[in-house]
Amino acid sequence: MGALTPEFGIDLGTYSTIVYSKGRGIVLREPTVVAKNIQSGEVLAIGEEAYIMLGRTPDNITATRPLVGGVIGDYTTTEQMLRLLIKKLCRYRFLFRPRVVISVHTGATGVERRAVIDACKEAGAGEVYPIDEIMAAALGAGLPIDTPTGNMVVDIGGGTTSIGVVSLWGIVVRTSVRQAGIDMDEAIIRHLRRKNNLMIGERTAEEIKIKIGSLIKYDDDPPSMEVRGRDLLTGLPQTVEVNANEIREALLEVVQVIEEKVKEVLERTPPELAADIAERGIVLTGGGSLLRGMDEYLSQSTGIKFRLVEDPVSCVAIGTGKILENLNEYRKKGYITPG
Ligand SMILES: Nc1ncnc2c1ncn2[C@@H]1O[C@H](COP(=O)(O)OP(=O)(O)OP(=O)(O)O)[C@@H](O)[C@H]1O
Ligand SMILES: [Mg+2]
Repeated sequence: MGALTPEFGIDLGTYSTIVYSKGRGIVLREPTVVAKNIQSGEVLAIGEEAYIMLGRTPDNITATRPLVGGVIGDYTTTEQMLRLLIKKLCRYRFLFRPRVVISVHTGATGVERRAVIDACKEAGAGEVYPIDEIMAAALGAGLPIDTPTGNMVVDIGGGTTSIGVVSLWGIVVRTSVRQAGIDMDEAIIRHLRRKNNLMIGERTAEEIKIKIGSLIKYDDDPPSMEVRGRDLLTGLPQTVEVNANEIREALLEVVQVIEEKVKEVLERTPPELAADIAERGIVLTGGGSLLRGMDEYLSQSTGIKFRLVEDPVSCVAIGTGKILENLNEYRKKGYITPG
């Protein structure tokens, strides 16, 4: 364990990958997208550069997300991406295999968890410490997870929503559902196809969500925008105006599933912990929780106060960083073990 060993905390997400470097903080944020040559399998681009290619590739190139619903869908591509990221991060310290703390999806099976650890090692990591993403999110949010109090976290990511109640360094109740930010974009695509006969791509749908998407219902004058796509009937480019109220209907298809899961966890939470949660509120993390009105919507639906953390997108990575900074202590206490 030389001082020269690079140490990273990685949030390997369906939508984006965020890296924390020990002593430095967040050093990298890239979309979890890989572009490849179909014939040779050669990686052409990763991250932002590959993300721009989504939906815009010619026949011989694919741009894909190697993670699906929070877990590895394409092992080889994930490993290739991690290898390039680690290489970029280590630069002059390539002689040392980095120590890595990596978040693992709350709903992952044993095999899926193993795949994350193995992919890291094959990509060049030395010791790998897996941590449950809900635990990392709770740590990143600064919750007192080492005390006997109920701390509830709802992490709405890109491919999955994870919900958990944490107390005394353990997860007491947990669940996850494959409905999150990317599914909201897909709901918007379906909506425009049904209502306007308009075909739009994934990135346009995301832009609509971020620009005018909201769970707040506007009584008059909802924000609106012009959307360009392809008319399904004529096959030609077409522009239509959409407003926030219509988009809200589409978003609710996803948000209502999340709402039900939150209620289910509350029902399964032991009474003492439920009382803590009612008093302390519920913490919202993940990029999907940035949707306008999400906190108010869930607060109203459950009667419990939801609070959005300061930097929802980086929260899990910050949590992996907190583990890195205290690794020896947490190892001794048995809170974390190498995988
Ligand atoms: N301002 C915003 N409003 C609504 N959604 C947003 C906003 N900013 C980001 N998002 C959405 O957040 C999602 C990504 O969140 P995040 O980075 O937490 O996912 P992830 O950790 O990669 O995925 P997962 O945890 O599901 O594996 C994307 O779907 C993105 O569109
Ligand atoms: Mg995530």
